[in-house]
Amino acid sequence: MNILIIGGGGREYGIAKKLREDERVERLYALPGNGGMAEFCECFPVKATDMEGVRAFAEAHPVDFAVVTPDDPLAMGMADMLRGMGVPCFGPSKAAARIEASKIFAKSLMEKYGVPTARAAKLDSLEDALKYVNENEPPMVVKADGLALGKGVFICRTKWEAEAAVRELMENKLFGESGARVLVEEFLEGPEVTVLSFADGRTVVPMVASMDHKTIFEGGKGPNTGGMGVIAPNPFYTEEAAKECMERIFLPTINAMRAEGCPFSGCLYFGLMLTKNGPKVIEYNCRFGDPEAQTILPLMESSLLDAMLACENGTLAETPVVFSGRAAANVVLVSGGYPGKYEKGLPIEAGELDEGVSLVHAGTKKTEEGFVTAGGRVLNVVAVRDDLESAVEAAYRNAERVSFPGMFMRRDIGKTAIDEIKRG
Ligand code: AMP
Ligand code: GLY
Repeated sequence: MNILIIGGGGREYGIAKKLREDERVERLYALPGNGGMAEFCECFPVKATDMEGVRAFAEAHPVDFAVVTPDDPLAMGMADMLRGMGVPCFGPSKAAARIEASKIFAKSLMEKYGVPTARAAKLDSLEDALKYVNENEPPMVVKADGLALGKGVFICRTKWEAEAAVRELMENKLFGESGARVLVEEFLEGPEVTVLSFADGRTVVPMVASMDHKTIFEGGKGPNTGGMGVIAPNPFYTEEAAKECMERIFLPTINAMRAEGCPFSGCLYFGLMLTKNGPKVIEYNCRFGDPEAQTILPLMESSLLDAMLACENGTLAETPVVFSGRAAANVVLVSGGYPGKYEKGLPIEAGELDEGVSLVHAGTKKTEEGFVTAGGRVLNVVAVRDDLESAVEAAYRNAERVSFPGMFMRRDIGKTAIDEIKRG
């Protein structure tokens, strides 16, 4: 089989690597891929959001199956376009991708079908939004309705901060049309859990639960990033929580999407908070998380290709999805200055890594002199071990063998999880 992967981050590297293990896979094309992916994929310089470029590529090459992972092309309808050309693919339709592309759509869906989530007001004018934040008590969370590179959420401790966030989105149009409407949400507290799931429109199969670390600095400080590190499994996500999430969140969501006439197929990402009143949805994403995907896929024992094909063919209920009982830790190495401005093109040096530890390329480019940096999140060090503490220790030990000028990493990935395990 020849497979086309759309995207070029660490997530796509992890997905491509897993698919490479499958002997049925002959050619792996990546648009655009990255420096590391070029070692085992055929990469072409077509942007993930270039609909016409992707169409022309799929017409000119023998593609049997496509995997569309970034949010923008899914929200633009790339999966519909490929299916329309006769190319089956992994990824939701444009209508189903609204579950991520519009937070107001997602909130209305949860309210209509009784899926537990934060109480929220949906506001579509600056005047109404300002009135609302001034009449309600902080803390509150202001969110842009549309896609905003993971940066459209503002946790506001005071009315003043909430008013400033509303003005940034609606008056200064920080994220353009994405902020034309906003949600103002109740502030929730509790451990966060990411559950990625396979879905075929009818059946939903959760993968091992993980924990992302979103802020740039240790202990939840500083601005949010795309993700600075991940551990799996997530010790806060007990069997009891998993059962409750399946009954009250996962199944109701998949059924709701079908009932609304936009069945969801692909990877449905549940961003959850385990509050003292039970698990609640913080956000849905219509795709694999990054860096969650490349952290948990090395724990997957069954075939990723079979699971992806089953999502497209509607046969997920009969397809085994098996994860090992081992643990994984991912430490993300970022460019100095990220998530703000940073330099690119800096030389990367990497020594040999231990067995069971891999260097995932996220923002790299290959040059004649070797690999150089080409993005904010440059590399991920992913370690798999029998238990979480050993995995975290191995990820950090191996991260010390990688360097580039200005390299930065958080030093506390997995800390709250390991403390929780020790508390028992
Ligand atoms: P999102 O982009 O929706 O995942 O939000 C980014 C981060 O903001 C989440 O990972 C949470 O840490 C935080 N967050 C979002 N919504 C809420 C909420 N209602 N209460 C508390 N924290 C939130
Ligand atoms: N790591 C969070 C995301 O992919 O949205």
